[in-house]
Amino acid sequence: MTPRPLVIAANRLPVMRTTDGWETSPGGLVRALLPMVTETGGVWMGWTGVPDDLEGKFEVDGVAMHSISLSEREIEEYYEGFSNDTIWPLYHDAIRDSGYHASHWQTYSEVNQRFADALAAAAPPDAMIWIHDYHLQLVPAMLRSQRNDVRIGYFNHIPFPPPELFARLPWRTEIIEGLLGADLVGFQRDRGARNFAGLAEQLTGAQIEIDHPLGRDGSPGLVHHAQGITAVGAFPISIDVGEIETLSAGRTTRQQYNAIRNRLGEPEVILLGVDRLDYTKGIGNRLSAFGALLDEGRLDGSRHILVQVATPTREGVDHYREERHEIERLVGEINGRHARLGFPVIHYLYRSLPLEELVPLYRAGDVMLVTPFRDGMNLVAKEYVATRLDDDGVLVLSEFTGAADEMTEAVLVNPHDEEALKSAILTAVEMNRHERRNRMRSLRAKITSHDVAEWARRFLNILEQPENPKAQEISGTGLTP
Ligand code: ADP
Ligand code: F6P
Repeated sequence: MTPRPLVIAANRLPVMRTTDGWETSPGGLVRALLPMVTETGGVWMGWTGVPDDLEGKFEVDGVAMHSISLSEREIEEYYEGFSNDTIWPLYHDAIRDSGYHASHWQTYSEVNQRFADALAAAAPPDAMIWIHDYHLQLVPAMLRSQRNDVRIGYFNHIPFPPPELFARLPWRTEIIEGLLGADLVGFQRDRGARNFAGLAEQLTGAQIEIDHPLGRDGSPGLVHHAQGITAVGAFPISIDVGEIETLSAGRTTRQQYNAIRNRLGEPEVILLGVDRLDYTKGIGNRLSAFGALLDEGRLDGSRHILVQVATPTREGVDHYREERHEIERLVGEINGRHARLGFPVIHYLYRSLPLEELVPLYRAGDVMLVTPFRDGMNLVAKEYVATRLDDDGVLVLSEFTGAADEMTEAVLVNPHDEEALKSAILTAVEMNRHERRNRMRSLRAKITSHDVAEWARRFLNILEQPENPKAQEISGTGLTP
């Protein structure tokens, strides 16, 4: 691994408060990056998730943390406002209107500047600074203007939109210039990388060098611009496959799995949805399609039931509150029509579950429904597949997820098309065991050969290359999963 100190900057710190201190947050990304931060003497910078909380350094289990404190107003304007009411909907195909408020932009810029200043002061000499996600798009250039010795990487976890949508943003040039401060900008998919490079060309007059190993698989390669050179590529993220498989194989999981099926009344087929309650996830369309199949008698509520787990998220943003009302209205309506006493057809949980409870649920789900209208990757799809140690189970997957690029043996579906969604659900429910196993075996082979630690190493290996990397220096890094 790299000898340079690794500094991570993300909106959120990888820790959560408990009654007696701090606990590391769950998630493959955190598990992959924390050991690298500790081993290289680096630090993780971010917000605790609580208003007016700590500012500055502290340590959790030997890992150096640096907290950026956000006021109530900053949370409202930088996080809920510009990040989640302007950028999030725009970058997800504009499936909801974005708000464009100069005051939110102003606060977003100020918070980005605070991150950049704190990074410039805290990063050890020659550090590799890896900035994560759409909350911090201005940080690369703000940091570059203060520190020349460091390598700066940026990874966009969500989609990066096509130029005709991005052009709506009143601050479009500033965002592109902000990102061009990085040495390496990574996206989930080739098309995100292409969208970004095209915008750099259009808005800043940058020149794109396609004939370069980074561009081998459809990504643009190098972007030459007024401030220097930025490498651009696709780095599809993955999960901690080993952890999920180990949990899935455990005795407790088997016991819980049996208990879940039993509590649900031993139905023939359990359909499962697990998502943050986000309007991008297509939860409502999925529920409506299931309800319509029951109405038409093509599914039977005594044999086919749906479990939907929805994590509370961004409840301060109007679009999210509206989405929750709509989902809960639909659950009530469909259960009202089809439940029998003591036997709902949709079991709906509005809460977050620990991975130890999620894995048995994945095991219990015969058909996993992942139907977003747009998703950068979708890790739930990968987690489901990783738990299926018996090679059984069917994944219904939206074509509009990054995961669909790789997971072509899923039942792929256009979630905007209700008939297609109904027919994908029926295909999954009726699929014979032989086909289920063939498809799941191929999916599992893909997922297990590409995990999150490898994803992180690949990004950091390329980031570590000296400026203007020569073709032979980064060839063979395996840019495609
Ligand atoms: P997003 O990052 O947009 O939320 P992903 O599917 O990529 O979507 O990642 C979601 C992550 O959150 C997964 O690791 C999944 O296990 C976790 N998750 C989703 N729903 C729940 C839930 N109800 N409880 C706990 N974890 C959840
Ligand atoms: O996938 C995008 C993302 O912002 C992740 O970075 C984050 O873990 C998740 O969505 C949840 O979002 P939030 O931090 O707003 O709760």
